[in-house]
Amino acid sequence: MSRPAGDYPAQIARSTNDTRPAEATGPMSAYRPFTASTLIAYLATLPSVKSRLGGEAIDWTAREVSDGNLNTVFIVSGLSGSVCCKQSLPYVRVDPAWAMPLERTLFEARWMQAVSPAIGHQIPELYHLDEGLFLIVMENLATHHVLRHALITGIAPAGFAARIGEFVGHAGYATSWRALPFEDVHAIRDLFSRNLALTRITVDLVLTDPYRSECSRNRWISPDLDDLVTALQEDGTLHSAVERLQERFLANSQSLLHGDLHTGSVMISGDDVRIIDGEFALYGPIGFDLGMFLANLVMNAYAQPEHEDWMRDEIALFWSSFRHAYLERWETGTGRGDMGSLTGSAASAAERKRFLQQVMHDSAGFAGLELVRRTIGFAQVADYEAARDRESEIEARRRALITGRSLIQKAFQIDTIEALLEHI
Ligand SMILES: Nc1ncnc2c1ncn2[C@@H]1O[C@H](COP(=O)(O)OP(=O)(O)OP(=O)(O)O)[C@@H](O)[C@H]1O
Ligand SMILES: [Mg+2]
Repeated sequence: MSRPAGDYPAQIARSTNDTRPAEATGPMSAYRPFTASTLIAYLATLPSVKSRLGGEAIDWTAREVSDGNLNTVFIVSGLSGSVCCKQSLPYVRVDPAWAMPLERTLFEARWMQAVSPAIGHQIPELYHLDEGLFLIVMENLATHHVLRHALITGIAPAGFAARIGEFVGHAGYATSWRALPFEDVHAIRDLFSRNLALTRITVDLVLTDPYRSECSRNRWISPDLDDLVTALQEDGTLHSAVERLQERFLANSQSLLHGDLHTGSVMISGDDVRIIDGEFALYGPIGFDLGMFLANLVMNAYAQPEHEDWMRDEIALFWSSFRHAYLERWETGTGRGDMGSLTGSAASAAERKRFLQQVMHDSAGFAGLELVRRTIGFAQVADYEAARDRESEIEARRRALITGRSLIQKAFQIDTIEALLEHI
């Protein structure tokens, strides 16, 4: 399934001045946003996509499935196959007044290339990238469901979180300073350090906005949540705790992160679990991806209390799978990194424990930030709408704000998954 980190392809690590993937790159076209029919006409000019779809353009259908905030996504079906096409718009799809550079699909394609050697088939296959159109053509996950919807409707299979923890562990190790010489890490990090627009969204929406009373992008159920929101926005001690997490996010380049790992960034079909939507990728602390994801499981449990035991089990499994995957790579001694050059696979148990504790601290803190921002910030989660009634929804949101605040404040004392589960 996966290749050892020592195989990490040099072309990903090569230093370039652009964000273009080395492969899957087609001719560059002039940008125009596609509709279903103009997209079909364009795909008909690509021989490899044409043969994948089968037949002629007249036989094909395109259906828009965009449900995220940022981009348009179409599924195009032909006589013998189908593809998924994702295109950036020069603005935020759900808020056209909010201008946004187009380059995000290029970073998404780059992320797919950067992680695929380490994680194999856990992402959709990239078929084609048009850098001028800012268009990705990729594998259509036709039988998969977006995990968030699968959770809300209760159809997600128990144990789904194992594959996602494994993904974070394998991708996290493969792009770490343990696996790669620092020259390679710098090259990849430099590439993703140009992902400015989406990193700005994270810095604003996750790490800043919810704690500022004057931010017009926040919204919450008023007056029911007013007391908790005011407390978040007026507590200087809490703001210092947020600042520590800002430092962890901005000043700790541990591994290449997905950067937006929530339950809407996972598609699932039985035990086939795929991670999508890596457009926010950047170097940062692994606990950012872990904390974001597990916070989304917590919110599902709060909104649908009948899922509480299930989500608790998934969170424990998520962490243990991450831990196992990361340590497995570390302990097999395939790393070529300058970090650990003296100890390698013989790193002491104490050193592994120290590392995991630090990742847990980060996970707890970033989970706290995610709980808060998805409850009162610009981009909220659909799980709350699945609450039984308005009272239950308010109760779920209150729990998320109280837990989020507590995790942010106590993050650096939470050493184990058991301690984290006690908090939530
Ligand atoms: N490879 C794929 N195969 C099938 N459907 C897909 C695929 N990728 C995305 N989708 C569908 O398109 C939707 C939007 O995709 P995605 O989340 O990548 O868009 P986005 O605009 O970047 O979202 P966000 O606002 O969360 O960043 C997904 O929820 C899913 O339903
Ligand atoms: Mg996205």
